[in-house]
Amino acid sequence: MIKHDFLIIGSGLAGLTYALKVAKRFPEKKVAIVTKAAANESNTKYAQGGMAVVIDTVTDSYEQHIEDTLMAGDGLCDREIVEMVVREAPDRLKELLSWGAEFDKNNLGDFDLGREGGHSQNRILHHKDITGFELEETLLDQVAQCDNISLLSHHFAVDLITNHHIQEWKGREDNKCYGAYVLDEKTGKIETYLSKIVLLASGGIGQVYQNTTNPKVATGDGVAMAYRAKAQIQNMEFVQFHPTALYDTRPGQTFLISEAVRGFGALLRNRKGELFMGQYDERKELASRDIVSRAIDSELKKSGDDYVYLDCRHLDPIGFENHFPNILQKCKELGIDWKKDMIPVVPAAHYLCGGVVTNAFGQTQIANLYACGECACTGLHGANRLASNSLLEALIFAHHCYEKSCEEVESVEENAKVPDWSEEGTTNPKELILITHNKKEVQAIMSNYVGIVRSDERLNRASNRLKVLYEETEDLYKKTKISPQLSELRNLITIAYLIVKQSQARTENRGGFYKEA
Ligand code: SIN
Repeated sequence: MIKHDFLIIGSGLAGLTYALKVAKRFPEKKVAIVTKAAANESNTKYAQGGMAVVIDTVTDSYEQHIEDTLMAGDGLCDREIVEMVVREAPDRLKELLSWGAEFDKNNLGDFDLGREGGHSQNRILHHKDITGFELEETLLDQVAQCDNISLLSHHFAVDLITNHHIQEWKGREDNKCYGAYVLDEKTGKIETYLSKIVLLASGGIGQVYQNTTNPKVATGDGVAMAYRAKAQIQNMEFVQFHPTALYDTRPGQTFLISEAVRGFGALLRNRKGELFMGQYDERKELASRDIVSRAIDSELKKSGDDYVYLDCRHLDPIGFENHFPNILQKCKELGIDWKKDMIPVVPAAHYLCGGVVTNAFGQTQIANLYACGECACTGLHGANRLASNSLLEALIFAHHCYEKSCEEVESVEENAKVPDWSEEGTTNPKELILITHNKKEVQAIMSNYVGIVRSDERLNRASNRLKVLYEETEDLYKKTKISPQLSELRNLITIAYLIVKQSQARTENRGGFYKEA
């Protein structure tokens, strides 16, 4: 058994920020970050656009950022949370700058503020078009300087340890978290990580769909573990589809063309070259992304085409190339010359607005278990996240989790008799290919029946198909030694089930959720 004071599951912006803060506050306490791939592999790393912060209160205001967030969230945001996040943003930004993060500046030396869909003002801080990468690297550098943090890459959290695992406390009303069972991918052993405080910061779920902007690691592990541990999971029907992923026939992670490109003036055209956004929303290309994604979906259904175009040909070349070098490099690699060619784009699964329900301090319903970042449902996003609010949310909630858990950590009792993981009755998997097949089936079901526009009929079909996969996979799970692939498959099936079930339960269309009558 390995004992820590703070255990963090996930190494994106939320997890690293929290780890850094608790480690600095308590140099004598032990902090562990477990992360299932390389340390920097997370949704954070791929965030292009940036971070929304009200910097200039002459041209912008907190009220406007609050209103934009509420409008995108379509009536389901928690106003108090929105106000808290928007108003605390400058403090968190200062801290981030003090850790060495850099954001682009204009010729006057002021922050170069970009614009994205749903924002009434330019307020997106960015580092070229690789903002998330910059933040991830900054935080990893800081974490590396803390002797009391163990950053354990290729360590897969299989399950949270709660009362359910403790013989004498099974069935108790109050539930507590004691740590997690973690698979060390090098040794193949599942170790018991005990911890006074556990933070889930395990990111998104994009891999439940065939086409996603999310990396391979985004398999919803944290949400699925929390669901198994009986935490409250909410708003899973609000999966945000990014309107403009680069069209690519290969399945897997799809390259994102940042919304900031439309903020810079790029236009959407159908295959005939016609502008179409004006028919859908008066804000045209800068409508919130649920509206733009649905508009593209509708154009594609009408025309039978596979993609629409993003037209950048009219944009100022110096400014454009300076802001978006990474995107333009990718286009170049694919033989797209942006000055002459339009860029083929399609919507792709991008962000989960729901997740593990928390309060303003990131506390879940399970004692000593916190959640923050994309896996959490904090009340900020409601039915649809406003662009570039997610890195901000990760920072604000990491700070709140830190404040609350620092109060709590001293009083956590360590009297639970936690058993080690038992592999009794399991054998090595004979055919890993069955796991791969089932994963592909889940992704196909979700893409075919649970996409941008849903219907009860399609959801029922998805639900029936998922049941079969669930039973097969649970059977495999009982007999087989745990592998990351099997765990991810189980988690993806859980996520798919939650999205379908919560979509079936929703009777009115809001934000990113649209069900045909
Ligand atoms: C983008 O750059 O378009 C993504 C930003 C976000 O998802 O907030």
